[in-house]
Amino acid sequence: MPIGQTITQFIIEEQRKIGASGDFTSVLNDTFTACKSISAAVNKGALVGVLGSAGSENVQGETQKKLDVISNDMMIKANEWGGHLAGMASEEMEEVYPIPERYPRGKYLLVFDPLDGSSNIDVNISVGTIFSVLRCPEGVDRPTEKDFLQPGTRQVCAGYALYGPSTMMVMTTGQGVNGFTLDQSVGEFILTHPNMQIPPKTREFAINASNSRFWEAPVKRYIDELLAGADGPRGENFNMRWVASMVAEVHRILTRGGIFMYPKDNKDPSKEGRLRLMYEANPMSFIVEQAGGLSSTGRERIMEIQPRELHQRVPVILGSREEVERLVHYHQEAG
Ligand code: AHG
Ligand code: MN
Ligand code: MN
Repeated sequence: MPIGQTITQFIIEEQRKIGASGDFTSVLNDTFTACKSISAAVNKGALVGVLGSAGSENVQGETQKKLDVISNDMMIKANEWGGHLAGMASEEMEEVYPIPERYPRGKYLLVFDPLDGSSNIDVNISVGTIFSVLRCPEGVDRPTEKDFLQPGTRQVCAGYALYGPSTMMVMTTGQGVNGFTLDQSVGEFILTHPNMQIPPKTREFAINASNSRFWEAPVKRYIDELLAGADGPRGENFNMRWVASMVAEVHRILTRGGIFMYPKDNKDPSKEGRLRLMYEANPMSFIVEQAGGLSSTGRERIMEIQPRELHQRVPVILGSREEVERLVHYHQEAG
């Protein structure tokens, strides 16, 4: 059986086209290695005692799962030694992680959600890893938080690994979106989903409806119209899905279209949204836009937000173009 195009070959050939240095390929290779290790740990699950709570909390006050901590360590260990990164930041670490003094430092910054959807871990439902690569500002050797606070439009690369029935890696460097499936027997991600495109129309939506009493008027209006189906103003029936793993949700949308919403609500006025800008919303927005979709808070394009802090939260509405446009329009009409 001939082996398909590996992800490393794909990136090297893509980098050649734009005359980029090999540094960037190395950053990604280390991240792929980490994701393969996380995939193996997720896959073995209870056999190796990695399920359940770690008994600690992260900076956002969420209980950490053992696999949140393990995945974070795997990302750090796989990426800190190579000499291509100047620093890292993660959902699971309050502060920026500096590259240890014993290693050389490079020109990129890596930001990640080591395990997304981790509430699904103990019930054996898909989870993932999300990452975003930024450039370290010129002349900065030891980056601090402010060096990471770049809008999503400045991302050099974004991707996610999905640990589902198959393990997949989906990524963009700003030249479209490509999907790779892990061939477990070879240990390589192989190109299986070239040039992924989100269909502009959809009849499927994803939202956590238990928050409906906290939603703002434009979101209520939009969802009411979808729920009214063929008898309502849309004149069509819509289907609903909610996995509670953003990675799985975005992957479904990349595959067959859809709209995903974690909108602004008034459940906890101290939080601007549920999802985090730097390592969830921005990388997913880059991927979605590169696949022909749209991503917005309802009021502005997510990738144009100037971040104020590393763990900042934002409302997220993304997916098939026509539906995102409609919901943004409802926000405009509401003023
Ligand atoms: P994480 O596990 O990294 O904290 O992220 C979970 C996120 C996202 O993946 C998902 O869409 C959302 O939280 C689910 O939220 P609810 O539990 O409110 O449905
Ligand atoms: Mn997450
Ligand atoms: Mn997470």
